[in-house]
Amino acid sequence: MNRKRVLSGMRPTGQLHLGNFHGALENWVKMQEEYDCFFFIADWHALTSDYENTKNIKGFVKNMMIDWLSVGLSPEKCTLFVQSHIKEHAELFLLLSMITPVPWLERNPTYKEQIAQLSNKDLSTFGFLGYPVLQAADIIIYKADGVPVGVDQVPHVEITREIARRFNYFYGEIFPEPQAILTQTPKILGLDRRKMSKSYNNAIYLSESPDEIAKKVSQMITDPQRAKKSDPGNPEVCNVFEFHKLYSEKDIVERADTECRKAQIGCVECKKILAKNLSSALAPIREKRIYYESHPEIVAELIMTGGNKARKVAKATMEEVRGAVKI
Ligand code: TRP
Repeated sequence: MNRKRVLSGMRPTGQLHLGNFHGALENWVKMQEEYDCFFFIADWHALTSDYENTKNIKGFVKNMMIDWLSVGLSPEKCTLFVQSHIKEHAELFLLLSMITPVPWLERNPTYKEQIAQLSNKDLSTFGFLGYPVLQAADIIIYKADGVPVGVDQVPHVEITREIARRFNYFYGEIFPEPQAILTQTPKILGLDRRKMSKSYNNAIYLSESPDEIAKKVSQMITDPQRAKKSDPGNPEVCNVFEFHKLYSEKDIVERADTECRKAQIGCVECKKILAKNLSSALAPIREKRIYYESHPEIVAELIMTGGNKARKVAKATMEEVRGAVKI
């Protein structure tokens, strides 16, 4: 069977939250049924900005794999691995760095943005500038056809296509040009209505207990115009309502919608219903997490077998690449 190959990666930045789940993982879980999927944890990429403090990376990698397995990514359906276990990525990165013009990297919008935003970190490093070159190596070493990503990553896939094209031009047609597959994501926000993010301290994590969920949901900012229960609310601007659409049955969603507009249901009650539904939706994920946490040897084994599968493909590509480059 000739399924299209899809590849994506995630930096190990700590526990996964609902923003990560609906922004990427949920889609990956669906894709594994249809495509030949390679998903990996980009631990070398984590070093491009966090090179000073590396003590948590290994733990984050394990934790991330547990999150992935818990949400239903299956090692039987897709290839799950850790970037730094496949040294071939580094070799291809080196070769690609020879042919990548520096101005392509300097005008990369994510580069400019992050340099401006993360002013507390020294990002004037070679590795940080070369971030998209490593990403290109990650992608083309598996000859991926598609790369499911959020909009923020589209420039990197574009640079990958340019690098692949340039390589093929110099050395012969080896790499297909991968397409970005844009993930459709629901508009859920963090507790404070900003983008859900670990660094904003406004996230609900996949591993959260029912009590923690209830507490966090109760802190969620709803329609900012609705101060009292007797004020009619507007579900269209309410983050709690967005969550209801994902986690509650249709009749509850309709009830929240009409009763909120008529000031018949208060935010406290509406949130209680949501917390209960969210809790039960996350229960299977929580249970699987507990299982994998108490069986670290199974997780280690899965990481190894996934790595072996990926390495086979990467090694075969590198044979071709060395031949083409004549090195
Ligand atoms: N840069 C991606 C991110 O920050 C992670 C990543 C690394 C990636 N290599 C990749 C994503 C290859 C897709 C394909 O989210």
